[in-house]
This record gives sequence, structure tokens and C-alpha cells, in this order.
Amino acid sequence: MKKFTSFADAGNYRALLQQALEIKANPFGYQHIGRNKTVGLIFFNPSLRTRLSSVKAAYNLGAQAWVLNAGADSWTLEMADGAVMNGGTQEHIKDAIAVMSQYCDVLGVRTFPTLTNREEDYNEVVFNKIVQYATVPVISLESATLHPLQSFADLITVAETKLKERVKVVLSWAPHVRALPQCVPNSFADWFSEIDWVDFVITHPEGYELAEQFTKGARIEYDQKKALEGADYVYAKNWSSYRDYGKILSQDPAWMIDEAHMALTDNGKFMHCLPVRRNVVVSDAVLDSPNSLIIQEAGNRTFSMQTVLHEMLK
Ligand code: CP
Repeated sequence: MKKFTSFADAGNYRALLQQALEIKANPFGYQHIGRNKTVGLIFFNPSLRTRLSSVKAAYNLGAQAWVLNAGADSWTLEMADGAVMNGGTQEHIKDAIAVMSQYCDVLGVRTFPTLTNREEDYNEVVFNKIVQYATVPVISLESATLHPLQSFADLITVAETKLKERVKVVLSWAPHVRALPQCVPNSFADWFSEIDWVDFVITHPEGYELAEQFTKGARIEYDQKKALEGADYVYAKNWSSYRDYGKILSQDPAWMIDEAHMALTDNGKFMHCLPVRRNVVVSDAVLDSPNSLIIQEAGNRTFSMQTVLHEMLK
């Protein structure tokens, strides 16, 4: 594996999932793979889970890890090709990434969307520059449009908790006070629309349709209650509009997942990538219920990263 940026890079997802479950069962059993290897982690925006689980994954594999908060810990980076750097930026991304590649065997990178320039975000202009300038394999720690390590951890979580051969998984939009990226729902759709033992449904208010390149013909149901009927898993997430790019079109509190919503499911499990705004996106009662998988899901971030590192370093 030379890069991990989307479901397509996972290759045979069944094999990768099986490898993840084996690594989770024996997390220190592959330390020969990471010996004398270094994992570099660059963050252009904040993180709790991705940062800590990636370091833990490297350690589990016997590798070392370093973390750089770009801009805060480093020189201010220039992104524009051909820039005359007589302004505030001090180092070009081209030089910085080539240099950082000298100090690691795999590079994990988190970038961010502008939420104002859809073309730039959906062409992954910043992330692709980094892939272009890196001389080592690159892992997406979340890009402008996708968060594949989160979706892989979500898949591990569903696979290890499902009680039926086929399961109904519902991705539900939920309200929020700020305009958030589409990365997590795009990525969830990118992965779960391809899983042959999942009946995948997306529910959101009209105007919140995700990019078709990721939903790939998934069933969209505008009636949230109808979508939740008989669900085995409810995955709540807010996202801003793709159509009216980056805009908040609704803050309808009726879309917040509460016990009444979960009562429509088939004793469904609740999932969210975290961080979550309690009692805005989902009620305390749901988050703290025995059917909530949020902590297990966050724990599986270690094993999604460890599996991808294993594939790249082996
Ligand atoms: N879910 C997730 O990626 O969390 P962080 O933003 O804290 O890394």
C-alpha cells in the first residue's frame, strides 16, 4: 500500500478488515514490522483521537512517531505554486514535505477544507500537493473531503458488534451550531455503500445531499423517522451543505437523535466519530446508553491506523 486516502486505497476490504481484527486480538504481535521505523504525523488543524491513536498505533507496531502541528510548531507554510514569498509565509510546502520525508518512513497528514471554495476542496488541492512532494507513503488523517481512518474504524466496530448476517446502517444528518465539513459523512458513504452485508441508508433534510461520487447510488430518505425504522446502527453526524457549499440550511432540533428516535430502530446501536456536541447532535441519554458504541469506536481508531501502517511497513 503506497497511499491511504479513500476506500479505493483499501484494496480488498475483507482482507484488510480481517487483518485489523487479528491485530486487535494481538496488538503487540507485529512489532518486528515497525522496528527502526518512524511515523511522521502532520496536523494542519486540531485533533484528539487521530493524533493520539496514530501515535499509539505506531508504538504498538514497534515504531517511533513524531507529531508536527503545522504553522504552530513550524514555519508558516506557503501553499501556492510559483509564489513570490515576500509576505507572511516563511517556507514552501514543497520544501517542507520533502524535508519531513527525510525524517520518517510513512507520513500521516491532516488537512482541512476551506468550506468556501468547493472546487479547491473537492480537488484536494492541499492534500494532493503533499502526496506529490512526499517521497514516502502518505496516510490521510482526514483531508478536505474524506476521513478514511475513521470510516475503517467504524467498519471494524460494526463488524465486531453485529448480531445478524446483514445489517441496516443509517447515516443521519443531525443539527449543529457551526458549519462542519462533509469529510466524515462522505467517507462513511464511500465505505459503507461498498459493504456487501450492509443495507445502507442516508437521511438528511433536503439540500444536504452529499457528493454523488461518494454516495454511489445509496438510498436517500428525507423522512428521518422512516429511515430509522428497523435500523441496526444509527450513525449521527452534522455536515454543511455540499450544494450551497459550506452553508447551514437547517438547525432543526427535531433531527437531534434522542431516545424516541432510537426506539424506532431494531434495538439499534448508536455511533458518532466524536467530538460531539451533547444535546445538540444527540442526547445524553443516547450517548450514555448501553447501545452507544462511541468509546469502542474511538478505541478502534488505533487498530485502523495500526492495520494501515502494517500494510505500508511490512
Ligand atoms: N474523530 C476524529 O477524527 O477525532 P479528532 O478530530 O479528535 O482526531
